[in-house]
Amino acid sequence: MNESPPILTEPHGDTGTALTFLRGFWYYTMASHELVAGKTCAVVIMGEPILLGRTRDGAAFALSDTCPHRGTLLSRGSFDGQEVECPYHGWRFNSGGQCTAIPSQLPDQRPQPADIKTNCFPVHESQGNLWLYMGRPHLGRPQENLPTLPRVPEVPAVGDRFQLHLRRRFDCSIDLAITGLMDPAHGAFVHASTVWRGHRDVLTKEKQFSPAPLGWRMDKHTASGNARAYRLFLGGAPETEITYSLPGVRIEHATTGRFTYCGLTACTPVDAQTTDVHHVMYWDVPGGGLTRALVRRVAGRFLGQDADAVADMRDGQAYDPETMLVQDADNQIRWYYRLKKEWQQSRKEDRPFKNPIETAVLRWRS
Ligand code: FES
Ligand SMILES: [Fe+2]
Repeated sequence: MNESPPILTEPHGDTGTALTFLRGFWYYTMASHELVAGKTCAVVIMGEPILLGRTRDGAAFALSDTCPHRGTLLSRGSFDGQEVECPYHGWRFNSGGQCTAIPSQLPDQRPQPADIKTNCFPVHESQGNLWLYMGRPHLGRPQENLPTLPRVPEVPAVGDRFQLHLRRRFDCSIDLAITGLMDPAHGAFVHASTVWRGHRDVLTKEKQFSPAPLGWRMDKHTASGNARAYRLFLGGAPETEITYSLPGVRIEHATTGRFTYCGLTACTPVDAQTTDVHHVMYWDVPGGGLTRALVRRVAGRFLGQDADAVADMRDGQAYDPETMLVQDADNQIRWYYRLKKEWQQSRKEDRPFKNPIETAVLRWRS
């Protein structure tokens, strides 16, 4: 990578930044415990209104939130723990989207409930998280081959139980949100702190990267000298490995041998200008609720700083300036757009995805 002729800048336009949502992936919706049995919850993903629910028996489901009759939001209706009822004419749907009642119809009239099925989405719960599959528009049904779910390495002492789930709404596109989270050079400016990192406190970094399914991995390395928050939390310099994968999932595994921390950051596009960023943390550091409260404060602050930073970028980019991606600090952003392009191309051509990322060493100061 470093032997290629020095390209100092690359116009941002070349990366194909026109916002497109990626289909064919699981998207994070909420922590499993937030969806209570017998209740529903309305969400919007990629501009589509979706009704999430959990039956009395505990099974999660997701239906299109618009009634197939006249479009009323089903989430404004009622749910008896088994079936959803539209508030307008009382059509009822089970958790698989099958219509079970159309009160206005006489027996000889069409349609009858059996003729109507509303769009439903596959959902899956794992490690305390509720994921929803966004397939081809209006075909989000299990006939597509579902990809495997993103999985966080297990922290042996706590298993699949997370310690903390944080959600932050970013007022920007998923592209800005995810590239903002993978950007390595903003830390000393955006996340400076008197406790763990001085303003403009930078060191030279050299990291090895390799391809991972649907993305890349920053190979296992010892966290750098200015990652003090980490060292404070884990009681030493941890070995860290970070994976980024489409459509906007970052998984981090850090261990000192004594303690382990795993983090899942998942970006879900609400609409073109809104992205929900979920940060789920698993650790075995002792301290119970006190540790949790402390981490909530620090991690929440980090997320808020990132949200503000990308909002400033969004405001600047609204003027459509010429921008650039520099070597090597912005290489991961370039990879993200490359992966995205290849994913869309492979779907269009109906062929397997071919990961364009190659092994590389990147160097920068941060
Ligand atoms: S709009 Fe839902 S039943 Fe008519
Ligand atoms: Fe950040």
